[in-house]
Amino acid sequence: MISHDVIVIGGGLAGLRTAICAAKKADVAVLSKVHPIRSHSVAAQGGINAALGNAKEGRDDTWEKHAFDTIKGSDYLADQPAAEIMCKEAPASVYEMEHRGTPFSRFPDGRIAQRPFGGAGFPRTCYAADRTGQMLLHTLYEKVIKENVRVYSEWLVTDLVIEDDLTRGLIAINMKTGELEAFKSKAVVFATGGYGRVYEVSTNALINTGSGIAVAYRAGLPIEDLEFVQFHPTSLFGMNILITEGARGEGGYLFNNQGDRFMERYAPSLMELAPRDIVARAIQTEIDEGRGFEDSYVHLDLRHLGAEKIKDRLPAIREIAMDFGGIDPIVSPIPVIPAQHYSMGGISTDYTGASPIKGTYAAGECASVSVHGANRLGGNSLLETIVFGKIVANSLLKYLKGNEIEENTYPLERTLKKRRDKINNLLARKKGGRISIIREEMRKTLSHNVGIFRGRGALTYALEKIKVLKERYKNISLDDKGLRYNSDLFNAIELEGMIDLAELITKGALNREESRGSHFRLDFPKRDDKNWLKHTIAFYSEDGPRVSYKDVKITKYEPKERKY
Ligand code: FUM
Repeated sequence: MISHDVIVIGGGLAGLRTAICAAKKADVAVLSKVHPIRSHSVAAQGGINAALGNAKEGRDDTWEKHAFDTIKGSDYLADQPAAEIMCKEAPASVYEMEHRGTPFSRFPDGRIAQRPFGGAGFPRTCYAADRTGQMLLHTLYEKVIKENVRVYSEWLVTDLVIEDDLTRGLIAINMKTGELEAFKSKAVVFATGGYGRVYEVSTNALINTGSGIAVAYRAGLPIEDLEFVQFHPTSLFGMNILITEGARGEGGYLFNNQGDRFMERYAPSLMELAPRDIVARAIQTEIDEGRGFEDSYVHLDLRHLGAEKIKDRLPAIREIAMDFGGIDPIVSPIPVIPAQHYSMGGISTDYTGASPIKGTYAAGECASVSVHGANRLGGNSLLETIVFGKIVANSLLKYLKGNEIEENTYPLERTLKKRRDKINNLLARKKGGRISIIREEMRKTLSHNVGIFRGRGALTYALEKIKVLKERYKNISLDDKGLRYNSDLFNAIELEGMIDLAELITKGALNREESRGSHFRLDFPKRDDKNWLKHTIAFYSEDGPRVSYKDVKITKYEPKERKY
């Protein structure tokens, strides 16, 4: 049995930030499915928000205005104290990362450059060209090495172990050897990112299976607001690689096949820089109503920005467009469509990242604190990881200091045996369905029926289909019976959790009879604060999710109709 005071699951920004901050006072390990610098945070492009007021047009920016934009952007579902904490801490967090070495792009006067982003009243998004996540991640990874945080790369967590309402540790599989291991710890932090790959069309990396949220769900933790799925307006048509909102922040235009800058009709004042839910719906509407190119995509035109600006501010976007689309944005518009991008919901926590189970925490995309509510503003996800990673570290250090936790390894041994038996049974099974078929059916079901526009008929169909897939999953068999790097086995373990999440997303969406933020019901097209200004909370049960609701915390921003 391996033992650490704290185990952080996930080597992305939220995980590394938590680990570094906690490592000053505790023995901390990071456990990740991939090497930390291959985590999905590396793919974040456009930037990180903070009211620094560095841009000429942004001198009057304040953290309160950032909080207001965040809450309005969330369609008033964010918990306002959480959004306030995040926005207040933002400037110090960005400067801390700058001092640690993140090579932010600069204005000519040497200050950190800031660009406009969707739903923001001022240019507030600090960036390192269009590789902001990569720069932040490398900065933190260097620090992880310096702080001697133990990193277990290529380990997949299968179970969180809780006994007597206390966190006891976890079970994980060493992907290199196939060996299962029990990890004893007093605190566990989920920093496992999103579940984008539950959808067929997603900007997310293949590792984004939502495995952390699924493990927490099966262990009995509450899962919040999973029906709020963000669709990024601009992914490269055909490949769905993210084309950063920074491209529109730098002045890019969206055009339909009539040559119209159609955002004029959907958000006349913010145009292309309206919040993502609005821009994604606008693009999808243009395509659905026959104003897309080849009935499939719209154009993101950067040509008027000029070669110099494109090369300086958007070098990776140019590379992506050229390498994967065969298009140089200096000379041609980029074909784009919306794609699943982010999960606003996740493991329900308080404002310190603590779950209701003592010793279990969550940070970053897998958590629902809730700072993003029904729709996240671009540039707030990197911010959430840096701000709440530190807050979670402080919160768990306080917990470790204030509690004498009696040793009890029996629950770990019991769970380890149960998981080992389950894997051995699966490996021994001679005949059964293929997981890839079930997985593809699940992904298609979600993309086609639980997408940007939703309705009772499609959601009901999707829920029934997911139940069928759940049954079929019980009879899967694997082609690879070995233990070393058995991706067939890892995929099977993850698929069980993905189906759970698909069910949660769909059930939450079917229940919520209103339209708010990213959740748009064609049959209930209006926001309904009287009945639905509340968070969905779901618990695992053998018969499917047990759903209840929780009030949204309001401070001073009374819900109003969003106009942009
Ligand atoms: O568009 C982007 O660069 C993505 C940013 C984000 O998701 O915050």
